[in-house]
Amino acid sequence: MLWTKLIEASAIVPRIRAAGVQIRADYGAEAPLLVGVLEGAAPFLAQLAEAIAPPRDIATMRVRSYGAGIASGGTIEFLRDPDANLFGRHVLIVEDIYDSGRTLQAVVDRLRRQGPQSLAVACLLVKAVPRAAALEIRYGLFRVPDVFVVGAGLDLDGAGRSLPDIWALAPGAPLDEARAQIARL
Ligand code: IMP
Ligand code: MG
Repeated sequence: MLWTKLIEASAIVPRIRAAGVQIRADYGAEAPLLVGVLEGAAPFLAQLAEAIAPPRDIATMRVRSYGAGIASGGTIEFLRDPDANLFGRHVLIVEDIYDSGRTLQAVVDRLRRQGPQSLAVACLLVKAVPRAAALEIRYGLFRVPDVFVVGAGLDLDGAGRSLPDIWALAPGAPLDEARAQIARL
């Protein structure tokens, strides 16, 4: 088997709940506007929003980071901007993973231009990779090693997104075999 279980769903659920409680406390009476980066952040956004509880607003945007398979980075294409007015709001970007950080940096730069009152980032996973310039991740829920992962919204070419647990791919694994094995996880 090329995949090993890295984080159990039974650990993810309470961690997201705790982060939601923390965010609620940090923002107090100021309702945050959560902006989820689709498609990977969708399950995390749903669970986090429920844990924060109203008052909070939810918006989504769609971004594509080019690179097939497990290649990270490349060109970032904005497919859809947030379906909400960010001006003067306390915006919390909700992302699946902080990897090279290029996607998040581009998202932060783009949203900042809309004039939010504050802008912070929540990431389900923070990958332990060396980065030239670090971005502040206000809420990073789990640290993961520098391996490719699927599950909890993260995919390999569309596969594995809906898995409740997070699985790590063996380094150097052949991609076609890795993709085929996802169906058996
Ligand atoms: P970046 O390298 O930080 O720009 O990551 C770009 C995007 O690639 C992230 O938003 C994820 O959607 C995706 N990504 C990065 N690392 C992984 C991974 O280990 N598994 C699945 N998707 C990933
Ligand atoms: Mg993403």
